[in-house]
Amino acid sequence: MNPSPLIGKNFLSLHDFSAAEIDFLLALSAALKKKKIAQEKGNLLAGKSIALLFEKDSTRTRSAFEVAVFDEGGQACYLSDSHFGTKESVEDTAKVLGRFYHGIAFRGFKQATVEILGKYAGVPVWNALTDEFHPTQVLADFLTIQEHVCKPLAAVKLVYVGDIRNNVGKSLMVGAAKMGMHFVGLGPRELQVNQHFIQKIKELSTLNNAKIELLTEIGPAVLNADVIYTDIWASMGEEDELAHRIKILLPYQVTQKMMALTANKNTLFMHCLPAFHDIHTSFGKKIFDKYGLKFMEVSDEVFRNSVSRVFDQAENRLHTIKAIMVATMSTKEIILS
Ligand code: CP
Ligand code: NVA
Repeated sequence: MNPSPLIGKNFLSLHDFSAAEIDFLLALSAALKKKKIAQEKGNLLAGKSIALLFEKDSTRTRSAFEVAVFDEGGQACYLSDSHFGTKESVEDTAKVLGRFYHGIAFRGFKQATVEILGKYAGVPVWNALTDEFHPTQVLADFLTIQEHVCKPLAAVKLVYVGDIRNNVGKSLMVGAAKMGMHFVGLGPRELQVNQHFIQKIKELSTLNNAKIELLTEIGPAVLNADVIYTDIWASMGEEDELAHRIKILLPYQVTQKMMALTANKNTLFMHCLPAFHDIHTSFGKKIFDKYGLKFMEVSDEVFRNSVSRVFDQAENRLHTIKAIMVATMSTKEIILS
């Protein structure tokens, strides 16, 4: 296939991609994964330089961009101490970086920032997480589901438990609505998505034959789930909310008891990570000292269970981010096999 149908396109939210385009990115990810496993060195991004402009911490996403571009012959530059946002505007930074680099990944707070970068850079801009959306995560999640649930995505019931209105919850909802899935957002009413977003999701799900439900009661929500997915209770930048979140999210902890309520012994457990499943971190210890909790959103038992696919998801960040870069930036022939 030459050139990629997505060449030159930004990757800011899954709203901008059709089901066929998401399918293409998933197929390309699977092909690139095979190539990596076969230890074939690639050159699809030879001569390409990318900038990683990160305002927030990252383990997986940063590593995925850096290793992926290297695997295909390009190079990455991590910018955490530029003039961006202090002495230089988003627009000017976009114009400068666009003259140096062939693509820019941005992780930060406002979705508007990544959109301004995308508008002015003149090269593909990829959303590596904002407060609003985390679209590269969803591609990795869908690849993981395709690998471990023996059903087409359109037949999968995915239950996302906890802070439904966060970047991961909302991105999964858009992805599910695009791919015709059965998505359940399970959590307290207070953390539901807003009406404007719900309206958009309704339109998408009608178009793509998806079923999207927002529920508060655990039993009916998780019954027959193929996947139970959760995320941390206070996202980066929301740490002050933690005490209140603990209060309202405690009934929604993913435990063996919740997994059993699915009545499906093959239900997978998924999490974008990092996860608070034990107290072997300084943060985990603080939570234990202050609230007496040994875990938050998921028990250590579920996290370490054989149905837990969290490290497969983490690995798939590499293959899917590589696919996004190749699809939007490479002018070389792409072979999907
Ligand atoms: N899941 C995810 O985005 O992880 P990082 O914050 O480590 O990049
Ligand atoms: N919702 C989380 C995702 C981390 C990958 C956050 O934004 O902190």
